[in-house]
Parts: sequence; C-alpha cells; structure tokens
Amino acid sequence: MKNIENKVVIITGASSGIGEETAKLLAENGAKVVLSARREDRLKKLADEIGENAVYLKSDVANPDDMKALVSFAKEKFGKVDVLFANAGIMPGSSVSALRVDDWMDMIDINIKGVLHSMAAVLPDFLAQKGGHVIVTSSVAGTRVIPGNAVYSGTKHFVRVFLDAFRTESVQEGTRIRTTTIYPGAVKTELLNILPPSEEKEGWEEYYRQNGLDASSIANAVLYAVSQPDNVDVSDMIIRPTGEV
Ligand SMILES: NC(=O)c1ccc[n+]([C@@H]2O[C@H](COP(=O)([O-])OP(=O)(O)OC[C@H]3O[C@@H](n4cnc5c(N)ncnc54)[C@H](OP(=O)(O)O)[C@@H]3O)[C@@H](O)[C@H]2O)c1
Repeated sequence: MKNIENKVVIITGASSGIGEETAKLLAENGAKVVLSARREDRLKKLADEIGENAVYLKSDVANPDDMKALVSFAKEKFGKVDVLFANAGIMPGSSVSALRVDDWMDMIDINIKGVLHSMAAVLPDFLAQKGGHVIVTSSVAGTRVIPGNAVYSGTKHFVRVFLDAFRTESVQEGTRIRTTTIYPGAVKTELLNILPPSEEKEGWEEYYRQNGLDASSIANAVLYAVSQPDNVDVSDMIIRPTGEV
C-alpha cells in the first residue's frame, strides 16, 4: 500500500492549474482532499467531480483567519490534517522600472505571506502530532535570477530558503515534519491570465502553448513526494519541460 491512502491533504490554489490536477490525482490515489481558493464555483465543480473524498472552503491565503478556518474545517470534516500543499500563487510579472508597486505587494501578500499564513495555521497540529508534510510550490524562478520578473522571482526564492530552513529546524527539534519544495518550469495553467495585454504577454503565451508541461506533470511529482515512506523526505524537485533553459 502506498503511503497516501486516507491522508488528509489541504491544497491551496485548488481552483485551477497545478492545484486542481493535484487534487484529482491525490484523491484518485486514496487521499482526502480539502480544496481552498477564492473562486467558490470552481471549487464546488471540482469537489463534485472528485466525490466524497473532497470538500472545499472558499478562502484567501492572504487572510490569516481564513487559513485558520481552513484547518479547522479540514479537521471537522476529516478528523486530522496530514499534508499541506501551499500552492496558491500569482505572477503579474513586470520589470522593476515599470513600478507596478501594487502588483509587487500582491505577490508578497499571496506568494510569501500566503505560505506563511497557511503554515502557521497547520503547524500547531503537525508539531503536536510529531509528523506531517508541508509541500510548497516555488518555481525555477526560485532557483535563479529572472530579469523582467524580479519580484515574483524573489517571492519564489523566499519559499525555497524558508522551507529549507524550516526542514533543518524540524530535524534539530525532532518533530519529523517532512518538507518538499517543487520548482516547476513552464506549465500550461491560468497563471499568465493576470498579465495585462501586451506583445510580451502574447510571446509568453505562445511559449507556454508550444513548450509548457501539462499540470499533471507537477501533480505526479506531488504524488511521488507524498507517497514515500515516512522516513523518506523528498526535499526538492525541479520539473521543467525538456529543452527549457
Ligand atoms: N504555471 C507555471 O508555469 C508555473 C511555474 C512555476 C511555478 N508556478 C506556481 O504554481 C502555483 C500554481 O499556479 P498555476 O500555474 O496552477 O496557476 P493558476 O492556474 O493561475 O492557479 C493559481 C491558483 O492560486 C489561487 N490563488 C491565487 N491567489 C489566491 C489567494 N489570494 N488566495 C487563495 N488562492 C489564491 C487561484 O485561485 P483563485 O483565483 O480562485 O483564488 C488558483 O487556484 C503558483 O504558486 C505559481 O506561482 C507555476
């Protein structure tokens, strides 16, 4: 039996793209999934499709009370939480000189603070039960410098550094909490929809259409990490299209 059956997995950013595909795949493999995002209609449709092993709560990762409510909801519905997949994120990319300061702050609120709020909500249970698994979606933009996407890249570096520091602390503290940071390259999702119309956006869309991976490639990576025996911590996984620099 794979180490996933009956695990309760909270997934933020479950209303589309990577989160949606991961929810379907984990549920097919026996997990119980708790779906979180802001678009309730999309969550409901997905939960209906998955069936009794899925529940959903409209929630915003930028709101700490929403994240606390999400963890309480998961425990009320399924009795416990085993895995947090902190996946919600946005990429309104632009050059620093464009001074799109509101976009910068939104990325900090969602890509950085969203991860922190969801972890702060779930960690009291993981610490008490001396176990659990935190999976976070960084990006290849979290492994190197991406001109034209500086703030996004910075948020994804934060995730990498923060989770690895937390992993090390967990080892030192003996809490046996597993961590996995996923670094996708281009994946065909709704991520680019937030960009205002421009030639550059069209260029990105064409690149993603031609080269982007299906979200199932990332879902497979999450399934692999979750399914490993408890003494195996798959700490970092880079999944990029073959041929992507
Ligand atoms: N696609 C790629 O090429 C790629 C590459 C590297 C990394 N990533 C990362 O992968 C993750 C998932 O993105 P995706 O590619 O699957 O794009 P996506 O289809 O746009 O999905 C993003 C998800 O995040 C949710 N979200 C955004 N803001 C939120 C908020 N404030 N509160 C709760 N949920 C929020 C969205 O739901 P609602 O709008 O309904 O709230 C949606 O479900 C992101 O962290 C992204 O940075 C993507």
